[in-house]
Amino acid sequence: MSLAPQAHQMIAPDVRLGQRVSIYGFANLYGCEIGDDVKIGTFVEIQKGARVGNRCKISSHTFICEGVTLEDEVFLGHNVTFINDLYPRAANGDGQLQTEADWECRPTLVKRGASIGSSATLLCGITVGEHALVGAGSVVTRDVPPYAVVAGNPARVLRTLPNGDRRTPGVQSGPAATSLPGGLDAGAPADESRPEIHQNHRRQTGSEPSCAAGLLLAGMEELVAVRPAVRKV
Ligand SMILES: CC(C)(COP(=O)(O)OP(=O)(O)OC[C@H]1O[C@@H](n2cnc3c(N)ncnc32)[C@H](O)[C@@H]1OP(=O)(O)O)[C@@H](O)C(=O)NCCC(=O)NCCS
Repeated sequence: MSLAPQAHQMIAPDVRLGQRVSIYGFANLYGCEIGDDVKIGTFVEIQKGARVGNRCKISSHTFICEGVTLEDEVFLGHNVTFINDLYPRAANGDGQLQTEADWECRPTLVKRGASIGSSATLLCGITVGEHALVGAGSVVTRDVPPYAVVAGNPARVLRTLPNGDRRTPGVQSGPAATSLPGGLDAGAPADESRPEIHQNHRRQTGSEPSCAAGLLLAGMEELVAVRPAVRKV
């Protein structure tokens, strides 16, 4: 496991972490299971009972609740929200705060290679099929078929990717392509509005930053910015 940077993280002792997991600042993980080669961005929370497969990318501010399973090579954009209770209540009829015994956790499955766009909300009890793409800001209320591109509220199928095609639409295939299997951001040029971050990335890794890599590095920079304020308190 690599934790970079090491400060301001809450990784509970009961978290099962795979090999080469990168977790950035202000993440909060407890009781969950994380596979190998996973990247977890800043301000991500992953609750107990959630399972994350190998080679997943989870962008900043995303919330993964109990009952969620991500298979291998799933991409989650920023601020993706999962849900596990369709009819939430704070208290019971007798005025007592609800406890774990008072509600039923409904599971959600995101299958191998699927990508979920930023700020999407996924209602519970659904399955997102292999290599499906969920558009930014969508509210997903039903199962998403494999290879489907869905968007909107409620999310509807826009089109279906050719069967067996795991590329990002519009990205050229062939030896020169830098796309990763199933990765929505893969091969997309990084936003160069903060060139110092990307220079740093190139120096450290010798590779071009992708959208998600740049954002993770941006998270690190934010952390550096926050530290002095924390010391003053
Ligand atoms: C869903 C998505 C993959 C669709 O891409 P596409 O297949 O190329 O679709 P198009 O751009 O041709 O749009 C097709 C239609 O869907 C609509 N649409 C596209 N994305 C949408 C979205 N997120 N929500 C609602 N409608 C959307 C378009 O307006 C268009 O509607 P129209 O035909 O009435 O004009 C893409 O728009 C998207 O949201 N990607 C997620 C990006 C993201 O969150 N990245 C996170 C990491 S940076």
